[in-house]
Amino acid sequence: MAKITSPAELEKLREKILSQRDPDKLCITLCSGSACHATGCDPVADALAEEMEKQGVVGKVDFRRTGCHGFCEQGPILVVYPQGICYLKVKAEDVSEIISATVKGGKVIERLLYVDPNTGEKATLEEDIPFYKNQQRLVLGPNRKIDPKSLEDYLAVDGYQALVKTLFELSPEEVVGEVKNAQLRGRGGAGFPSGIKWDFARKAPGEQKYVVVNCDEGDPGAYMDRSVMEGNPFAVLEGLMIGAYAIGANEGYIYVRQEYPLAVANLTIAIEQAEEAGLLGENILGSGFDFTVKVHRGAGAFICGEETSLLNSLEGKAGEPNARPPFPATRGLWGKPTNINNVETWANIPLVINKGADYFTAIGTEGSKGTKIFSLVGKVNNTGLVEVPMGTTLKDIIFKIGGGVPGGKQFKAVQTGGPSGGCLPEDLLDTQVDFDELTRAGAMMG
Ligand SMILES: Cc1cc2nc3c(=O)[nH]c(=O)nc-3n(C[C@H](O)[C@H](O)[C@H](O)COP(=O)(O)O)c2cc1C
Ligand code: FES
Repeated sequence: MAKITSPAELEKLREKILSQRDPDKLCITLCSGSACHATGCDPVADALAEEMEKQGVVGKVDFRRTGCHGFCEQGPILVVYPQGICYLKVKAEDVSEIISATVKGGKVIERLLYVDPNTGEKATLEEDIPFYKNQQRLVLGPNRKIDPKSLEDYLAVDGYQALVKTLFELSPEEVVGEVKNAQLRGRGGAGFPSGIKWDFARKAPGEQKYVVVNCDEGDPGAYMDRSVMEGNPFAVLEGLMIGAYAIGANEGYIYVRQEYPLAVANLTIAIEQAEEAGLLGENILGSGFDFTVKVHRGAGAFICGEETSLLNSLEGKAGEPNARPPFPATRGLWGKPTNINNVETWANIPLVINKGADYFTAIGTEGSKGTKIFSLVGKVNNTGLVEVPMGTTLKDIIFKIGGGVPGGKQFKAVQTGGPSGGCLPEDLLDTQVDFDELTRAGAMMG
């Protein structure tokens, strides 16, 4: 892609991309997140390429490999748009029929549809599956629409509009103000208000400052950050750049655990594409703002998710924590003011800037705004990634979205927040999931 040197050029490019895309054109999307790799999306992709050629639909039908759709246990997941016909547990052997019956003939293949384990009812469309129906996928939503290796796809879903607004319409103070007004709290566990943290780093004395993404994600069973990073690395980068502008940093680091090779691969491609397009580097979009970013692979120590250990590890030291204060905002990476946030926190930033604080604060509870992503795993019928408004009850997550306990067995307890969290028994199932309610119940967000 040629270098984009102004917001007007970016808009022109976006319009060109959209003009070349017909929303009514058939498009086959195949989830290619880590879980769908494990269940065999590669042979399905190979079979699709072969069959599309054989059955003469190349050019008439688009094919896109996307990030995680969320319903990982049912993968590989294939969705045929514009209808949104959703096929689960797709195998290479199914592909010929998918092309001939669904793509060419408009017929639904019943055996590949979701069947509700409780009612036996089938769902044809992705949005009709109870697992998705009761979610609000503001952060995860773009995952199923874009190829994470395509900057063009990200631009087509309004990517980089928040950055343009930030660089050309808002002062750093106004950006911090918007994040404060949105009452966004850090998604890494403790729920510290992000705007207040940004303000500390912005006001800390010093020329050299850093921004850092925490993608260490060591909690067993958790893979929210991995899926956002794999499926939409551009959103994390855009959020990070907005934060860098706000606090006055020109360098960023993304700390990703070594066990996330697809996240590292997709992120690296996203960085290369953004650099080539002039969306990273010097004088971004002609704004005068410079920003570079490096990816650092962590070796997979749980403690390196803790911010001071992570920063020590980034410096090449042993990943051990330091006493706080001083906090990273005043004395972080190489002793310089540093703002570190979790992947999901950064991925919320474009939404906050694009839609505004009023939109964001209308979602959630008094003390916890927006949505939260959870990995719903264990002895539950529907396992996968779930994004719900803050304040949704544990009961709704486990029973409405998760479909309850397999085999109609008695529910015993739910564990939230990883090793630092807690186990909540049946009488706490009506607990609303937000930072304060979970802490009150003796557990933690996560
Ligand atoms: C033992 C320990 C492990 C942690 N692991 C993670 C982690 O894997 N990912 C994460 O984002 N935060 C983790 N945290 C929290 C970080 O120290 C830090 O608060 C967070 O990255 C800040 O980002 P946020 O404000 O966006 O939540 C951990 C904290 C502790 C004490
Ligand atoms: S990786 Fe395919 S649905 Fe999660």
